[in-house]
Amino acid sequence: MTEKSMKKKVSRRKFIKIAIAAAVSFELIYVLFGLLGKKKPKIDSASLFNAGKVSSFENNKIYPFTSGRFYLSRFDDGGLLAISIKCTHLGCMVQTDIKTKGFSCPCHASKFNKYGEVLSPPATRALDVFQIVIENGQVKVDVNKPIKRRGFNVSQLTYA
Ligand code: FES
Repeated sequence: MTEKSMKKKVSRRKFIKIAIAAAVSFELIYVLFGLLGKKKPKIDSASLFNAGKVSSFENNKIYPFTSGRFYLSRFDDGGLLAISIKCTHLGCMVQTDIKTKGFSCPCHASKFNKYGEVLSPPATRALDVFQIVIENGQVKVDVNKPIKRRGFNVSQLTYA
């Protein structure tokens, strides 16, 4: 190998390293600024469904709001979750299920746990949820914007 070709190879390696470092840097900047710039979506308070006083909902219970098309679940730590009544398979209305302590669909027998996650198909996706806002001790649900999700995580809960 000549000295010239060695220099060429080294400079090519250097170029690739710089290109990779630049790509990683751009990705990091994009992710960081993307996360910093994320804001909670604004909610039109007139469109919120008023479910009632926070104190009227006991822990470990599910409350149906068929006119709002959601179930309000309150878990043992007081966290609230508004779960869509609409099955993610073909859109039938799910019902509470005593056996699973969650929900089941009368159309094709999909089952969901208390967080709305799929226990048995044909549904493949967790039930949608709605954002909850606590205003003056009232639980208000943004029923106009279902939020799709893969599964449950605690960040979906709302606390008074
Ligand atoms: S619509 Fe619910 S399982 Fe098919």
